[in-house]
Amino acid sequence: MISATPSVFDASLTRSGDVGIDSFVDEHAPTVDYTYYGAGKVALRDGMANLVEPGQNVLVPAYLSPAVVEPFRDLGLETRFYAIEETFAPDFADLESRMDADTVAIMSVNYFGFPQPGLETISSLTDEYDCYHIDDNAHAPLSVADGTLLGTTGDLGITTLRKLLPVPDGAILYRTADSVREAFEPSSLAGPSNWVAATDCLFVATSVAETVLGSSRSLHRSVETLLADSDCDPSSVDPEARYEATKVPMSKISKAVTDTADPAAIRTARRENYRAWKRVLTTRDDVAVVYERLPEGISPYEFPVRADEPEAFQAELEDCGVVGAHNWPILRRSVYENDAYATSNLLSEEMIVLPVHQGIDASAIEAVGDRLRR
Ligand SMILES: Cc1ncc(COP(=O)(O)O)c(C=O)c1O
Repeated sequence: MISATPSVFDASLTRSGDVGIDSFVDEHAPTVDYTYYGAGKVALRDGMANLVEPGQNVLVPAYLSPAVVEPFRDLGLETRFYAIEETFAPDFADLESRMDADTVAIMSVNYFGFPQPGLETISSLTDEYDCYHIDDNAHAPLSVADGTLLGTTGDLGITTLRKLLPVPDGAILYRTADSVREAFEPSSLAGPSNWVAATDCLFVATSVAETVLGSSRSLHRSVETLLADSDCDPSSVDPEARYEATKVPMSKISKAVTDTADPAAIRTARRENYRAWKRVLTTRDDVAVVYERLPEGISPYEFPVRADEPEAFQAELEDCGVVGAHNWPILRRSVYENDAYATSNLLSEEMIVLPVHQGIDASAIEAVGDRLRR
């Protein structure tokens, strides 16, 4: 079975010695200040807090999960969504038409671990309009493009460790510009926790369950059905509640895993799995690979494809044991079915992302390929 995330018991990609996320960041972004947080959204709030005034606005791409803009609401800012092209580049005419004297920042998003096309133009625009460039690199903490660690191309940026490692939470706030560095005041949520919390124990217990369930697809399905039938935690669907729930420091277990992770081995494994999916899906004319090239230094988050029949393709994958494939993202209500954001709506309908995490062996992907081709 190919799961959505790696397991905390997958020790093969952790080592002691000169490893860990700190040494990777120190090597690739030596002049950047950074702080750990429980969630990228809270990191974003703290990073922006002393730079903005209520009533100002921030421009973010329309192709985005609903809760990501909650820190801006928390700071009294207006979020304005800009349209994007099919390449994920901003529609610059649309973006510029939404800017005004109260625009305090433009956010770019490096989708799936690849730099967002147009980053340089965004930087020139933020220079021209004298506002901040936020580099949202939630998707891939280990991606380095042309020598720059993604997340550090703007004035401030974030990355999310939960999307890379088997951890319950974890994120980093990068402060690149002097003005951002000087204004920063860490809140009580900055830095890792010194305590082992109940959520840490729950996470380990869930990981044990996942490991057991991973060996049995039918058991996994019945547990999934049980969970789907039970009353859902409303915080999982309401963006504001979801954001509020992340207002806790990074857990102690997350920091421990972060300190022993082997970035080079993890990136290599993810790249191998990315290439395996590409080989497997290349013969399918109902599925379009989003990024044909995997440039050096990129650590993919997932393998995104655009499917002619997304639901049928996802069901087919599930029949082959790929339980970790899913559609991405659900769009914010003001973006969903809004004609101004037709491309974002189309992408969110068609996009299926397949897991490439380091807990998967490329041979498992090849084996799925044999079944898919039949
Ligand atoms: C593009 C993007 N930015 C930011 C975030 C927020 O990260 P976190 O969940 O660490 O708050 C997400 C989370 O899904 C995301 O997809």
